[in-house]
Amino acid sequence: MTAPAVKIAPSILAADFSRLGEEVRAAEASGADRIHVDVMDGHFVPNLSMGPAIAQAVKRSCGLPVETHLMVTNADRFIEPFAKAGSDTLIVHVESDFHLDRTLREIRALGCRPAVCLNPATPVWTLEEVLPLVDLVLVMTVNPGFGGQKYLESTEAKVRALRRLIDQRGLRVEIEVDGGIDPQTAPRAVTAGADVLVAGTAVFGAPGGAAEGMRRLQASIAGLGPCAG
Ligand code: DX5
Ligand code: ZN
Repeated sequence: MTAPAVKIAPSILAADFSRLGEEVRAAEASGADRIHVDVMDGHFVPNLSMGPAIAQAVKRSCGLPVETHLMVTNADRFIEPFAKAGSDTLIVHVESDFHLDRTLREIRALGCRPAVCLNPATPVWTLEEVLPLVDLVLVMTVNPGFGGQKYLESTEAKVRALRRLIDQRGLRVEIEVDGGIDPQTAPRAVTAGADVLVAGTAVFGAPGGAAEGMRRLQASIAGLGPCAG
């Protein structure tokens, strides 16, 4: 049997931190493809979250790839500690880095997958130069900083435009969406062109736990697939 085309990356921001290992293993057992680690510095976004020690704990607790979403200023200062902590993918915001080209090349040199992220207000054209340097583009479907926010439908046009741009240029770059993804919004994001879904509340906040959250999300996108592979 082939793996489902659309990938799911549960965000531990919504997990029970007193049982972090159990939580990520439950997500893994239910078919999660990677674990999303949200790093917030209180400057780039108005909230604080976690550092490299947590990324390392996640990496040691399960067999899944770890992707680290750096919602920080001076992201270049943090790529090495998060690479050493075991991050497989490092996601940097285009709005927070003056020397994005250098940062993305450094991420690759550290042996990780380079990825960029766009806030809802940031247009696709800002990726023009860096698109060939990345393995993934993360499109924020909420304004970053908090879990449990409402999905912004206005971001779907951006996902569509990005899909067209990647396909026109013949690149193999994944499109990931993050924020407010649940069984209602997931099919919309996938139809717009998303290959990977980040979900915090919908997975770890599900009443029956991560297994139930994963099942509901998977059922909502069954039969739908990314537009390109
Ligand atoms: C928001 C974070 C998201 C967040 C998603 O700033 O980047 O990854 O955890 O949470 P939900 O799925 O609850 O919107
Ligand atoms: Zn995130």
